[in-house]
Amino acid sequence: MTRRRGAPLVAGNWKMNTAVPDGVALAREVARGCTEHHGVEVAVIPPFTHLWPVRDALGAGVVLLGAQDVFWADWGAFTGEVSPAMLAGWCDLVLVGHSERRHLLGESDEDVGKKVAAAARHGLRVMVAVGETEAERDAGEALAVVDRQLAAALAPLAGATIAADAWSIAYEPVWAIGTGRSATAEQAEEMCHHIVQWVEGRGGAAPRVLYGGSVTPRNAAELFAQPHIDGALVGGASLVPHDFLAIVGAASKAD
Ligand code: PGA
Repeated sequence: MTRRRGAPLVAGNWKMNTAVPDGVALAREVARGCTEHHGVEVAVIPPFTHLWPVRDALGAGVVLLGAQDVFWADWGAFTGEVSPAMLAGWCDLVLVGHSERRHLLGESDEDVGKKVAAAARHGLRVMVAVGETEAERDAGEALAVVDRQLAAALAPLAGATIAADAWSIAYEPVWAIGTGRSATAEQAEEMCHHIVQWVEGRGGAAPRVLYGGSVTPRNAAELFAQPHIDGALVGGASLVPHDFLAIVGAASKAD
């Protein structure tokens, strides 16, 4: 099967897990397991406290470094926030709009849009996370919710398109995150296909579209076999090197 959107991307979102030394050790294990591309891009997304030492631990290897969030202003009186200007140049990508930030921390669609624009302005690759809740899916609103989130994420760009390799979209149904209940490959494919069409319908080249939500070594291969799933955003399994590397391995066999 021909992949139309580049090599698969497998990113490990560590969330608020690991003390700094444990995180550095985890990064080293991932780096040791990914010394060459093997047709897959791999990223680790540790907590902010870990970014600098993890950058060191990854060295000049192939594993990309991502931040779990970013603020929209460059500098100023924003206690506790981390700006794209602080990350630019040494951090490869930023995750924006994760459902835990949207639902637990009150981040709005508009906030997500401002963050996407700020990160893009600084040349950081952006991974935009979108996804519906279970209630929204049950109400038949999943596509509309994802459309709304995507539109808001891109709104501050005022119609300008982002180069396809400068961003990615992670479809993460909220009901599948951390629950052990992954979307089926069909459900994930349906939404990822829809997302590709949505972006292309706006005149942009579609970026890679990842699936996230209880991805494990057991379900990864089936997910990656879908034509519009270009990788995975992995939470829990990214904390276990063996499991994360097995998911990377599944992605490298996906074509
Ligand atoms: P999970 O988390 O793999 O633990 O379900 C995915 C995510 O939230 O990015």
